[in-house]
Amino acid sequence: MASTAPVPELADRAAACADRLRAADSVLVASHIDADGLTSAAIAATALERCDIAFDSVFSKQLDSAELDTIADTDHETVLFTDFGSGQLDLIAEHAAAGAFTPVIADHHQPADAETAFHLNPLLVGLDGSSELSGAGTTYVLARALAARGDPPSSPAAGSQATDNRDLAALAVVGAVGDRQAGVDGLSGANERIVAEGVAAGVVDERTDLALYGKQTRPLPKLLEYASEARIPGISNNANGAREFLSGLDLDLTTDGEWRCWADLTSDEQQTVLSALVRRAVASGVPAGRIDDLVGTSYELSRESPGTALRDASEFSTVLNATARYERADVGLAVCLGDRGEALDAAHTLLRNHRRNLSAGLQWVRTEGVTVEDNLQWFDAGSEIRETIVGIIAGMAVGSSGVRGDLPIIGMAEQSDTERKVSARATHGLTRRGLDLSVVMREASRSVGGDGGGHTVAAGATIPAGTQTEFLTTADRLIGEQLAGGG
Ligand code: C5P
Ligand code: ZN
Repeated sequence: MASTAPVPELADRAAACADRLRAADSVLVASHIDADGLTSAAIAATALERCDIAFDSVFSKQLDSAELDTIADTDHETVLFTDFGSGQLDLIAEHAAAGAFTPVIADHHQPADAETAFHLNPLLVGLDGSSELSGAGTTYVLARALAARGDPPSSPAAGSQATDNRDLAALAVVGAVGDRQAGVDGLSGANERIVAEGVAAGVVDERTDLALYGKQTRPLPKLLEYASEARIPGISNNANGAREFLSGLDLDLTTDGEWRCWADLTSDEQQTVLSALVRRAVASGVPAGRIDDLVGTSYELSRESPGTALRDASEFSTVLNATARYERADVGLAVCLGDRGEALDAAHTLLRNHRRNLSAGLQWVRTEGVTVEDNLQWFDAGSEIRETIVGIIAGMAVGSSGVRGDLPIIGMAEQSDTERKVSARATHGLTRRGLDLSVVMREASRSVGGDGGGHTVAAGATIPAGTQTEFLTTADRLIGEQLAGGG
């Protein structure tokens, strides 16, 4: 059994969780509303369906006592929590003890101090939940265990992929990429084993390619203009500059007057553009390390049509965020489950709206600027930015003009009349120096009567309105202490 498990460290726990699910009369899949949570739910739903286990699904922004009461009221005797649950283990354990339901958890967030019998989390076995395995990856491990010990499928028509669940690795990669677990060199740790299974199953293509976001669907000038990852003077953030650069190449980069996308170019054409970009970067004095970062590992979903957002793991995750962060998780889930009709159309409409909001939010941060403290920089957008996307915008703002790349960033937005949503983002470089934003968010928020948590590089909290200054002072001190004490 262990030999075929994608993450051997988790094999025993996965088998126990799978056995419990198989014994259930009915399961409620409760999942987090973001790209990782949606892909987790889709992996769980597919695996349960393939085992003939009856289930329903529900999504939630945050698990608190009230949410758990609602879940308990659904009368499913087993609840499978995916991409959250570990952080709320204490609350979940209380509900379980009261006989509300049996919890099974597949998560990668920092576990709260409590125990439960069916708990799958990379952090419990010494793996890094921020970078090595996502919620979707953890749920994939569970899906593989469900297939491994299950009875042979009753319907052979389901095909061989359906029996081992390896085809679900594609969604696990989307979840990991959506949770920002991939660096320029791609995914690492346990995630790499999932990638390998996806490649073997013919659903994932791992390739070395231009490391910019939007290779499948962004017209070339936009691809370069918005390339916050690379920042080449005169091209990044410069619509005219990007167009002039492309027009100056000896290539025909338009079709019927429309700019082509990176994915439509031949490899020779791609090579020509890339070489010219590198030459321009060198000439503009971009440091060698940053030039190297122009090329990296990217993941394509082999079964999706080329030139569509779903083909690229990163663009796919944006499509999902565009649904889940706007109360349309149902649309994202349907897309993950294969709906390429109505749900995909709805997702594209939501995506256009999401892009407008991201661009307006980013513009707001650039115009208003951030306030720099000793160890962090922050902005409070009030009602100017939707609280469900303030974290994405905070992350995108880092490195743009007026926003420092060497400090963590904290973005705030109104969650309700009485609450502020806080999102914190940092670089892996800072976490290597000892920064852990999950601890900062939990402790600083609790000190003002709120709550929070998350991962070392990306974390969030909810705090009472009016406590922002006190919260920031504590967060600034905690970050200073972590960086001073870190190795
Ligand atoms: O909401 P945001 O995108 O900033 O969340 C970043 C990370 O922090 C996510 O993984 C989220 O689950 C976690 N988080 C948390 N508790 C909160 C808010 C966010 O654990 N109150
Ligand atoms: Zn996650």
